[in-house]
Amino acid sequence: VDSDFARLIGLHENAAKLYHHVLMNTQVGEAALTYLHDRGLDDETIATFNIGFAPGDGLLKPLFEERKVDYQLLRSSGLFIESQDGQLRDRFTNRIMFTIRNASGKVIAFSGRILHKDPDSPKYLNSPETKIFHKSDTLFNFDLARKEIRKENAVVLFEGFMDVIAAYSAGVKNGIASMGTSLTTDQIGILQRVAETLYVSYDGDDAGQNATHRALSLIGEHSNMSLGVIQMPEGLDPDEYLRKYDAEHFRAVYEGAKETPVGFALRYLARGRNLNNQSEQLSYIEEVLKIVAGVPSPVEQDLYLNQLADRFQIDKASLKEQLSGLRQSKK
Ligand code: GTP
Ligand code: MN
Ligand code: MN
Ligand code: MN
Ligand code: MN
Repeated sequence: VDSDFARLIGLHENAAKLYHHVLMNTQVGEAALTYLHDRGLDDETIATFNIGFAPGDGLLKPLFEERKVDYQLLRSSGLFIESQDGQLRDRFTNRIMFTIRNASGKVIAFSGRILHKDPDSPKYLNSPETKIFHKSDTLFNFDLARKEIRKENAVVLFEGFMDVIAAYSAGVKNGIASMGTSLTTDQIGILQRVAETLYVSYDGDDAGQNATHRALSLIGEHSNMSLGVIQMPEGLDPDEYLRKYDAEHFRAVYEGAKETPVGFALRYLARGRNLNNQSEQLSYIEEVLKIVAGVPSPVEQDLYLNQLADRFQIDKASLKEQLSGLRQSKK
């Protein structure tokens, strides 16, 4: 069983090398390489992340068959799709190949991105679950980021692979992402062992903000890490922000624009509400006070009360009174 594990990793390492070779050195990979360059990735970054290209007619099947790799092993590798008559064909074709590596840096899976928008196929296609790949406890880039996470005692959680890669190339090297699914409690456990602080840096669009809200409550519930939010201005995702501006601006956001979870919640709850309307104002303030009531630090509470008092021209004493009522009724 153990040797199956090693053999499956061997297949993936091999496949990654081939995909990378196709991308860098062949005509078949040219369009994909241009695409990546156009997205701002240089060859060094492409090599660091071992990015590749899977050609349209399939690459792995003829090669592994020629090498007489065991059919059952190929079947269980996730690298192929099996037709009804038992024939295998490459799962990944015509896609830019991102390697998914385990904590030791070994390739255990792939995520393939289409080059051109296509309504009939997913933007990213991931390997299925296999003996060596469990989405729920895999974190993209954890192997490269770990040292920096330890050093900074902080980890940045991104939404997409491209965001992690962009951040890394801009000097923010403690970034990881979950596997295109929501964060899991296993992943939270892994992160908690290496850092005391976690920053959620999801996309600035609506989907990203909803996901941020969910991630904060899940992490808050399952760990005692201290939490923050770093969100790009203008509704952009981190990669888009870096491309629109530059590495210096990008790093400045990471150093300067850290929000507390409550600060984020204040902003989040305001979305879609018309705060010029008095009854919506009141319900907003009530919701916010409920959150502020859960903040352990009196100084931090005071900060939010000042913010509310300023924003809505309310007497701070009334806010305090309502807040203490909430705290009592909580017990
Ligand atoms: P780019 O368009 O390449 O910049 O990707 P992105 O990272 O900005 O993608 P997006 O914000 O749309 O989605 C975030 C993450 O969700 C991606 O990195 C993927 O991991 C995942 N994801 C997006 N689209 C798909 C999909 O069609 N299928 C799957 N399985 N995952 C997806
Ligand atoms: Mn997104
Ligand atoms: Mn995105
Ligand atoms: Mn993006
Ligand atoms: Mn982008």
